[in-house]
This record gives sequence, structure tokens and C-alpha cells, in this order.
Amino acid sequence: MGKIVINGGKRLFGSVCIHGAKNAVLPVMAASLMNEGVTVIRGCPDIADVRAMCGILNHLHCKTDFKKGCLVIDTSMAEYEEIKAEDTKQLRASSVLMGPVLARFGKVRLAYPGGCSIGSRPLDIHLHALKCLGASWSVSEDFIEMETTGLHPSEITLRFPSVGATENALMAAAAQCGTTVLYNAAKEPEIESLCAYLEKCGAVITGAGTECVRVRGKGVLQSAEFFAKPDRIVAGTYMAAVAACGGSVYLQGVTPSLCRGFLDVFTGMGMDIRMEGEAMLVQMYHRPVNLHKICTGAYPDFPTDMQSMVLSVASVGEGTLILKEQIFENRFKYVDELNRMGSKIKVEGNTAYIEGVSGFTGAQLAAPDLRAGAALVLAALAADGISEIEDIEYIQRGYEDFEGKLRSLGALIERVDSERD
Ligand code: UD1
Repeated sequence: MGKIVINGGKRLFGSVCIHGAKNAVLPVMAASLMNEGVTVIRGCPDIADVRAMCGILNHLHCKTDFKKGCLVIDTSMAEYEEIKAEDTKQLRASSVLMGPVLARFGKVRLAYPGGCSIGSRPLDIHLHALKCLGASWSVSEDFIEMETTGLHPSEITLRFPSVGATENALMAAAAQCGTTVLYNAAKEPEIESLCAYLEKCGAVITGAGTECVRVRGKGVLQSAEFFAKPDRIVAGTYMAAVAACGGSVYLQGVTPSLCRGFLDVFTGMGMDIRMEGEAMLVQMYHRPVNLHKICTGAYPDFPTDMQSMVLSVASVGEGTLILKEQIFENRFKYVDELNRMGSKIKVEGNTAYIEGVSGFTGAQLAAPDLRAGAALVLAALAADGISEIEDIEYIQRGYEDFEGKLRSLGALIERVDSERD
């Protein structure tokens, strides 16, 4: 698959365009199955997860055409097929196919979704929500099977505001006539995006982005166009790169309000952040200052997907930081890699204790998951000397041309493809 090679220690200067949000686009791609027409997604990032979801839609006899950030999906000829294990294993977000496939075909059989290995990531909340809407299910060691003789509106209370389960419930509800009420729903901006798309398809939705969402569904949904908002986690990744390496970078096409939850963290670390229209100028000219404690939480709290990036920055910060992971178990697997570079991080349960060091050195590294892989890239950019990062397919799941964009900011970074690629 290849590796990323970085000669660290360069400050970053220039401008980078933030692409559309992966976590907004993937559920809309899944939801497109329900409208039996054409969905146009603008601002669609060219990343491996989008390509993998296109592959699954093609397998279900949908047509996809992806050019220059515009993805057109024609689901008019879709036919039921079992979704292959090798496809779902590539993509954790394949779980959001359960609601739409069930709504369109009355059945779904899915191998347990793959994607990042960050804890057990069970699906009980998804299954509960779809059961409330009229599905029955059985679970074997490798597969989940669901079927229904007809879904119906319902009142659903989630035991935890799971993003994916909220999406599955909203999508399946939007294709039923009548009103579904979802309590303890996730409030992430990607839920609001999905609701905006479902409304364009004909559903009437109130409360998107709050913990109680009402969906007045429509039996047959219509074709719709969707504009993906910028990826807040990608914006946060480039901010973290500047915080760790120093420099001055314009982030083009960001929506600062979506970055709530981590802007304060970076300003607290000493970063200067200025909003300039559609751009955000981020500058850092000294060592980051470590805050006392950060806890991950559901939106609008500090996002779990930014945890690894901020930990890389704090590794070279002044003082100590306590970082508590409250969403996923087992999300500190990359810490051993950072410690091999010279970081001083101790992990106890779901809490990392980081004692900042004045610098660290390049090493041979392996990306354990998407966001941890990005965090290792940031650490390597800030380190002295050469680092090589393997298993970069994880990073390619969520970042469009990551190496190219960092190189345009002055980083000495190359992707080296292995001979068999
Ligand atoms: C989504 C995002 C991911 C982000 C996460 C939390 C996508 C494609 N991925 O993942 O980037 O890190 O939200 O913001 O949008 N849980 C259960 N049972 C369930 C479902 C979830 O116990 O049925 C648990 C999970 O194990 C986890 C927590 O709930 O501990 C949050 O998971 P969830 O909000 O569902 O995250 P995802 O939708 O998988």
C-alpha cells in the first residue's frame, strides 16, 4: 500500500482548502437509496470511504458518477443484493445502510461493519431504533439480518445519542407516512446536514440538531441535491498541524461555528485565530501551552475525533495535560508510537496523562486508525529528522490528498507507493 515519509521540523505557511465532510456525505449517500431517483452531492471529498460507499451502491445496481467534487447517484434501478463482507469491512459507516436498505427493500443482511478499530463499537442502539420502526432482526457471529413486512412511524428513545443510530432512525422514518419522534438524538452538525437532505427529498423535519427530532415522513421520496459543508475535523487537523509545527495558514472554506468544541482548546494553547470571511487564519509562533484537562464528549463538547490530534500537539507543549476519552474505549492505541518518538504519555484506562517535551525525533510508525494516523503525521511533522508512517490506507479513508496539501504548506512529506501498488 505504501507509506508516508516525512522530514520534520518545518513551520507551515500558506493556504489550504477544506473539503466536504466525510461524515455528512456518507449517510446522504446511503439515504439516496430511498428516493428512487437521482441525488447530486456537491463538495464531495475524493476519499477512500466515499469510493467504498460508491462500490456498495454499485453492487446494489445504483449508478454513480464522481467528477471534480460532484457525485451523482442514480438509485432508480436499485435491486436488493446481500452486501458483501469485504465491502462492509472496509467502511464503518456501512452501518448507516441498514435503515435505507430496509426501507427500500424490506430486508437487509450486513456483515459487521469494519473501519477504524477503536473499541467494540456495538450496534444495539441502531437495532433498537429500527425495531421500534417495525423491523425484526437476528444477529449471528458475523452478520446482522433485518426484515420487515412494513415499517411504521414510532416514538423512539435512544439510550445514548449515537450519531449512526440517529441517522439510521431518521432515514428509515423519512420514508414512512406519518410522524416519528426521536428522543435523545445525537446533535452533531452532520445530523442537521442529513435532515436538510431528507427535507429536500420531501420529509418535514423539526428539531434537527436538538435532542428531540420529529420527522413527518413521505412514502415516496424525491430526487434531491445536497451541498456538503466543510469537514470540521479536517479543519481541526490542519489547525493542529500549525499548533504543533508553528506557522501561519489560511483555512479556506471553513464554517467556524462547526468548529465549536475545539477552537477554545487551540486558543487556550496560544494559537491566534482570526475569522476572515469564509477563511480562518491560524497562527502559532511559540510552543503550545498545555491546558489542564480536556474531556471528549458529544457535540458541542470536544469531539473524540480531535482527541489524537490535540494529544500530538500537547506532546510538544509546555506543562501537562490530562485527556479523558469519554466516547470510545480503546482510542489511545497510537500512544506507544508517540512515546517511541520521545513523548511522555501515560495511559490509565480511558485517560491519557501528557507531560510535554521540548521536542521529539522521527521514527518508524504505523497508523492504527484514521484519526490516530493523522495525529502521527502531525507528530512526525513536528519531530526532528525522518519518520516513516505505514498503514496509510487508514488516513486515506478521510483526508483528500493529505500529503499534497501539507507539502503545499512547506512540509517535507512524500508518499512512497510500494512496488506491488
Ligand atoms: C460517528 C462518526 C465518528 C465519530 C463518532 C462520535 C461517522 C461515519 N462516524 O461514528 O467519526 O467519532 O460518530 O462522534 O459519522 N454505541 C453503542 N451502540 C450502538 C452505537 C454506538 O454502544 O448501537 C456506542 C459506541 O460504541 C461509542 C458511542 O456509542 O462508544 C458513540 O458511537 P456513535 O455516536 O454511534 O459513533 P458512530 O456513528 O459510529
